[in-house]
Amino acid sequence: MIMLLLLILKSGAVSAGWSVTFENPNPCAIKGSSVEFRCSYNYSDGGTVRKTAWSKGELKDGRWKRVALSDLLSYQNRSEYLGDLQHDCSLAIHDLQDNDTGYYYFRFDTDMYGWRSRSSVYLTVTEVSAMVYPDSVRAGDNVTLECKTFCQNPSIVWFKDGHQAAKPEFQAQREDAGNYVCAVEGQEWALSEPVGLDVQYPPLNVSVEVSYPGHLTANSRVNLTCSSAANPAADNYTWYRITVSSFRVQVGSGQVLSIPSLEMSPTGLYFCQARNRLGEGNSTEVQLIVDKTDINHFIICVGIGVKVVIVLLLILVIIWAWRQRRRSAVDKEEKSHDYENISSI
Ligand SMILES: *[C@@H]1O[C@H](CO)[C@@H](O)[C@H](O)[C@H]1NC(C)=O
Ligand SMILES: *[C@@H]1O[C@H](CO)[C@@H](O)[C@H](O)[C@H]1NC(C)=O
Ligand SMILES: *[C@@H]1O[C@H](CO)[C@@H](O)[C@H](O)[C@H]1NC(C)=O
Ligand SMILES: *[C@@H]1O[C@H](CO)[C@@H](O)[C@H](O)[C@H]1NC(C)=O
Ligand SMILES: *[C@@H]1O[C@H](CO)[C@@H](O)[C@H](O)[C@H]1NC(C)=O
Ligand SMILES: *[C@@H]1O[C@H](CO)[C@@H](O)[C@H](O)[C@H]1NC(C)=O
Ligand SMILES: *[C@@H]1O[C@H](CO)[C@@H](O)[C@H](O)[C@H]1NC(C)=O
Repeated sequence: MIMLLLLILKSGAVSAGWSVTFENPNPCAIKGSSVEFRCSYNYSDGGTVRKTAWSKGELKDGRWKRVALSDLLSYQNRSEYLGDLQHDCSLAIHDLQDNDTGYYYFRFDTDMYGWRSRSSVYLTVTEVSAMVYPDSVRAGDNVTLECKTFCQNPSIVWFKDGHQAAKPEFQAQREDAGNYVCAVEGQEWALSEPVGLDVQYPPLNVSVEVSYPGHLTANSRVNLTCSSAANPAADNYTWYRITVSSFRVQVGSGQVLSIPSLEMSPTGLYFCQARNRLGEGNSTEVQLIVDKTDINHFIICVGIGVKVVIVLLLILVIIWAWRQRRRSAVDKEEKSHDYENISSI
């Protein structure tokens, strides 16, 4: 009866001061979270409000009906009237379930009249799920991130490995690889499950590590190890030696090249090529320089040998010279005898 009265009054003077206003008529909230319908109401009969109630639009037997939340068991512990009997009609619903999605209405009764809101709050309860298309790309390819929710025109924020990420569409670079999550702006606590992006690229930063025992001599066994940054990891290595005439000669395969002796390699120049299925990369050339101290050793040894020979020769010369002198002295003596003899004659 009251309703009928209100319908009659709707365009009349009484309805002018009567209203229910919803601050946000289309809230979108994450499953499990809480939502607050901020609401105010006005009436102009100067009377006091006796009763307020929130109800939900429910389809029953093909007809929409407003069912008071107090009559719905599943809302009993989860709905909380934050308003009062003056002008505030706010409502909170906690621990949101999927089936809380729907239309919500407010009504109040004064001593004389009842008033139901014509408009409603439409609540969307959503989950957030992240997608990445495609999830494995080559560096430079386009990638699209999509955050699925049931919200209308939601503001979405993306995070990559804990940091806010920029655009949902980009050309993937190596550093874009990682895990992405999305959230509805303002409800960042409710993150989607992470989705991974794999960015593949051919070997980069190919380098050679040289190892040998002690110092490098012409007879050292030298190991060259080829490493690179690649995704997927390089699985095919080729080793080249550069000849004196600048030819590149293939000298081995595998990540480690073991060189038994450098004698065959006058230039000592090597480089490696790393491959994965996306391409190849060459290292810069490494030069193996035989340790100079080795040559010095040789020179010193030779030096000592020469000195020994010179000393020996000197000794021989001295001995020879001494003998020569003795012999000539004897001759002189004999000659002097001759003179003596002659003089004695
Ligand atoms: C309620 O009524 C008062 C006085 O008539 C008015 O100033 C105010 O703006 C109204 N509020 C709403 C939400 O309609
Ligand atoms: C509401 O909470 C009370 C007390 O915690 C509990 O006994 C009751 O079963 C709950 N009702 C529903 C519908 O969850
Ligand atoms: C909503 O779903 C919950 C479980 O997901 C269930 O317990 C509850 O009865 C449902 N409420 C209605 C009104 O269908
Ligand atoms: C070189 O590699 C071989 C086998 O790969 C290993 O046995 C040897 O110890 C390595 N030598 C050095 C100096 O790293
Ligand atoms: C390759 O080297 C450059 C320069 O040193 C460096 O900035 C870059 O991070 C390296 N890339 C990888 C994948 O290691
Ligand atoms: C390595 O790459 C070369 C050149 O593409 C190819 O001929 C060879 O079969 C590859 N080796 C392996 C083990 O994949
Ligand atoms: C790497 O070296 C090989 C052998 O000389 C050559 O065929 C190839 O073009 C080089 N690749 C690059 C990227 O320089």
